[in-house]
Order: sequence, then C-alpha cells, then structure tokens
Amino acid sequence: MLTIFVILFGLFQMCICLIFILIIICLIKDNVTHDVPFIPVRKRALQSVIDSLELYPGSILYDLGSGDGRVLIEAIRRNPEIVALGVENGIIPFLISIIRTHKYPISIKFRKILKQNISNATHIFCYLSDKSLLELQMKIEAECKKGTRIVSCDFQFHGWVPKTTISISNSNDKLSRMLYVYEK
Ligand SMILES: C[S@@+](CC[C@H](N)C(=O)[O-])C[C@H]1O[C@@H](n2cnc3c(N)ncnc32)[C@H](O)[C@@H]1O
Repeated sequence: MLTIFVILFGLFQMCICLIFILIIICLIKDNVTHDVPFIPVRKRALQSVIDSLELYPGSILYDLGSGDGRVLIEAIRRNPEIVALGVENGIIPFLISIIRTHKYPISIKFRKILKQNISNATHIFCYLSDKSLLELQMKIEAECKKGTRIVSCDFQFHGWVPKTTISISNSNDKLSRMLYVYEK
C-alpha cells in the first residue's frame, strides 16, 4: 500500500514539474518569437482606454494582441451591447484570457493578427510595438472601412496624424502613458 502511495505521489510530482517546465518553455517561446511581450495595459489606464474608444451599441471591437483579455472585459462590462473580439497568438496569455473571459460574450481567437479578417471592425484597440504597427497599418488601410476608430496605446502609427492624443499617466511609470486615437 505504502509503495503504491509513494509511486503515485512520485508521478504526481513529475506531472507538476512537467507542467511547470511546459509553462516556462511557452513563455520563452512567446518572448523569442514575438517582438511584443505580454505586458497588459495597466489597470489604472483601462477606463481611459474604454472612454477613448467611444463605443456604442452594435460596435464591433477588436483588441489585436488581446493579452489576458482585460480590455475586452472592461469594454463589455461597460457596453454590454457591443461585439468584443480578441486575437492573441501567445499561448500563455491566450489561455489566461480564455479563463478570464469565459463568463462574458467575448470571442478570442488563437492566431496571428495578420491572419485575422478585421474588415467588419468599427473599433480597434492595440498595444503593440513600432514594428507591429507598420504591418498592422497596411492591413487597416487595405481592409477596414472609413470611420473605423483605432486606439493605440504608447505607439504611434507612422505618418498618420492622431485625431486626439490622450496622456494617461502622470507618474514615473514608463508603460501605459499615452493613447493615440485615429479615425480611418
Ligand atoms: C503589450 S501586450 C497587450 C495586451 C492587451 N492588448 C492589453 O492591452 O492588455 C501585447 C499582446 O499582443 C500579443 N501579440 C503580439 N504580436 C502578436 C501577433 N502578431 N498576433 C497575435 N498576438 C500578438 C502578445 O502575445 C501580447 O499578449
């Protein structure tokens, strides 16, 4: 009996170790293959993000690189009549977002942003990087309809003049400092 218990306990410990190693591998892989790390927008900035989007009933909001889903959750809490969609290709943030959003009508796709059709978007939020915004810019130009409202946190689209620039931090925090609001 004791031997069986020791074997089972050993197997259990091995499983925990394997899961832990898998999580570390996924995190390393995500950081090596992405030029944008999983750094969610600060909680203190969420309200400004949602205000700046100016959502209305029927809005179709995409968070491109949706991380743990916090922007979509806040958006749907405050505007239950919108359609909220996320696109995320980091395995860890994707899994976290699936758990966090399960009780909301939010759809999150595990895929690359460039593989997602965004032609029906009325609103787009992104918190990416200079390089990713260059690629996204071409996609928005090719796919999105006139009037689509785009809010980018901390990074500006090259050559586009923002309709509004909103400062969202007056502390020393270098993240979640600015929102750049564009309209196609
Ligand atoms: C800075 S985080 C922002 C997360 C979320 N939008 C927020 O504001 O809390 C950027 C996220 O974009 C994801 N990401 C980066 N490049 C991507 C790509 N090409 N396709 C899908 N997701 C991507 C990363 O995995 C990361 O979770």
